[in-house]
Amino acid sequence: MRAIVLKIDGNVNQLNYTELPLPQLKECEVLVQTKAIGINPIDLKTKNEKGIYLMLQEENPLILGWELSGVVTQSRSEKFAEGDEVFGLVNFPGHGKTYAEYVACPAAHLAIKPSNPSHFEAAATSLAALTAYQSLVHLGGLKSGQKILIHAASGGVGHFAVQIAKHLGAFVVGTSSEKNREFVLGLGADKHLDYKTNALDKEHKDYDMVLDMVGGNTIDRSIPLIKKEGVLISIPSGKNDAVTDKASKNGIKGLKFTVKSDEDDIKVIADYLQQGILKPHISKIIEFDAMEEAHAQIASGHTVGKVIVRL
Ligand SMILES: NC(=O)c1ccc[n+]([C@@H]2O[C@H](COP(=O)([O-])OP(=O)(O)OC[C@H]3O[C@@H](n4cnc5c(N)ncnc54)[C@H](OP(=O)(O)O)[C@@H]3O)[C@@H](O)[C@H]2O)c1
Repeated sequence: MRAIVLKIDGNVNQLNYTELPLPQLKECEVLVQTKAIGINPIDLKTKNEKGIYLMLQEENPLILGWELSGVVTQSRSEKFAEGDEVFGLVNFPGHGKTYAEYVACPAAHLAIKPSNPSHFEAAATSLAALTAYQSLVHLGGLKSGQKILIHAASGGVGHFAVQIAKHLGAFVVGTSSEKNREFVLGLGADKHLDYKTNALDKEHKDYDMVLDMVGGNTIDRSIPLIKKEGVLISIPSGKNDAVTDKASKNGIKGLKFTVKSDEDDIKVIADYLQQGILKPHISKIIEFDAMEEAHAQIASGHTVGKVIVRL
């Protein structure tokens, strides 16, 4: 099968196309023929020896990628049979290996793809959607009637977070630049703020929760907007080291978060997709042969919704 292997040669970190044998299945795994892969900032961070590279550096071959949608071609699990269409977040945090034509996936990390969404849409609704769901629901406990500020509401995680927070009954304010205002409001946000102006700094201090996908200075700008005993959840690792200290000095909770592959949660996401509660926005579909183009798009820091790679 064709796969993309990370090669580190001196200072050059390259995505190399190579032929590999089909993965051998362990108990409770299924072999998935990949139809679509979702690309995320963690792919680039790990390629550049950040992200979860430390965890994977001994792996040989090291294959990036964690989101996929595809068709089961072999099964060592009672959950799925040959021919089932499945999607999910594979082995995160760990070795996902989805940049390949075939991927051995723990069955517990997958759900049946609902019939309406395409493989592109299902792949798009894995890592970023689970991040939004797990952080808002499990970590933050967002409730109906609460007021939440979602940073980078036009991005991969943010555009799902807006939809989930609205579904939960929250009042949602989303940030992005002006060019994405209509997109963010179209997702259902009640209000939009352009982070390039001082609109954010003039906001009321009445937020129950902030979900931060930017880190750094965005944390400092957000803390004064949160009610006492409110919560700031910051997800970009490496840019949020001081969030807990900074928040506690201001009488609020500052939390970091890492998404995890999870059987129950991916079923909820499948259900949200089926019911149309979550609608992924795909801004680009790129061929497998042009993975560097997909990485360049994510590296811009200005992707709207998701970038998907087609096999
Ligand atoms: N800890 C975890 O488990 C976890 C999981 C998922 C993601 N993450 C991290 O979370 C971060 C976001 O991921 P993502 O996939 O959502 O990224 P993304 O899709 O690349 O985000 C792009 C979006 O960010 C917006 N943006 C850029 N700078 C901004 C700013 N200063 N304020 C508000 N919006 C801004 C852009 O809007 P404009 O073009 O309008 O500027 C763009 O639409 C990444 O660092 C990623 O690694 C962590």
